[in-house]
Amino acid sequence: MLNRISRRVAAVPPSGIRKFFDIAATMQDVISLGIGEPDFVTPEVIRQAGIASLNRGETRYTSNSGILELRQAIAAKWAQRYGVAYDPEDETLVTVGGSEALYLGLTAIIDPGDEVIIPEPCFVSYEAEVSFASGVPVPIATHVDTAFQVTGSQIEAAITPKTKAILINYPNNPTGAVLDIERMREIAAVAARHDLLVISDEIYDRLTYAAPHTTFSSLPGMRERTLIVGGFSKDYAMTGWRLGFGLGPADILGAMRKVHQYTIMSASTTAQVAAITALTDPRAEDAVLAMRDSYNVRRKLLVSGLNSIGLPAFEPRGAFYAFPDIRASGMDSEKFAWTLLEEERIAAVPGPAFGLGGEGYVRMCYATAQDKLEEALERMNRFVRRHG
Ligand SMILES: Cc1ncc(COP(=O)(O)O)c(C=O)c1O
Repeated sequence: MLNRISRRVAAVPPSGIRKFFDIAATMQDVISLGIGEPDFVTPEVIRQAGIASLNRGETRYTSNSGILELRQAIAAKWAQRYGVAYDPEDETLVTVGGSEALYLGLTAIIDPGDEVIIPEPCFVSYEAEVSFASGVPVPIATHVDTAFQVTGSQIEAAITPKTKAILINYPNNPTGAVLDIERMREIAAVAARHDLLVISDEIYDRLTYAAPHTTFSSLPGMRERTLIVGGFSKDYAMTGWRLGFGLGPADILGAMRKVHQYTIMSASTTAQVAAITALTDPRAEDAVLAMRDSYNVRRKLLVSGLNSIGLPAFEPRGAFYAFPDIRASGMDSEKFAWTLLEEERIAAVPGPAFGLGGEGYVRMCYATAQDKLEEALERMNRFVRRHG
């Protein structure tokens, strides 16, 4: 039978970093700076809340939108931290990771052929998710000279009559960039002028090191045109629980809920109960702050180490990634990553895996034990001396 697979799905290339990690996993003594997740286990108090929920026999579906108490806690935290209030009933949806919120958001707003502007380098899934939703991704490159922040004029230059939305992510994976307020205002002005929606992936909102996070929807006029994607994976070290959320205007959240109802029904009950504790128990908050402090120590160690061995690294202000410039090695990103793996047993992700603007860089995740980071820096020093 011909054409069994839809053109839409067949056209999307498989994730470029899989092959790399499959090979790295077969090698001995590899220090992995590759995987984008916390090295902590979920804080004890949150784990116990999940266990207690299971022991109470809470093993059934929840409301499609998510347990009301959790939606209330999510909305209350967003209002308290960032000053933007959402109605827990119809402006808050609990999803299977930030990933599902992103996918639902795109599915809810895109008609075939609609364009979504994506500043890159960015999370590996964005372009594929836009394509799966029948949209057309329009990538634009950000650069180190603007601290990997997209500018209003860059976005404006990419707008066509088909543009429906802008998909931004700050703190950013893979660069660690955070948007300055002036840049946020520029983006907001462009979105308002061209009547665009904004999907703001704020999954790393608690992991900022220079200044507290500002949510994009807090900018004047933006609440009504912004979908916030949030989650528990990164901030609470809960990647395996698969829990996230969307916050936004009721029409968009309603459309997302419809798709969610028919495809997913409800996120994991255990994870939702545990997440209530994550948001409301002061011990969970202490744990988040302690993890952030620990990432910050490691951030400084890795970034200053990279700079001192001749791999200039932009100072990341959020998330847990460094994005060093490897061009002095004379290799491209792919060659650098493979050679580094073969010769020094260090796994880092080639920048082009994250789209435009990634060539010449590799991503290194510093959510890795400090002694491993120190060892990695020694090995990379040797490597750079050999190839520099
Ligand atoms: C920017 C960004 N958005 C979303 C996700 C997905 O997170 P979740 O585990 O909540 O689906 C990730 C995970 O790496 C990410 O880096």
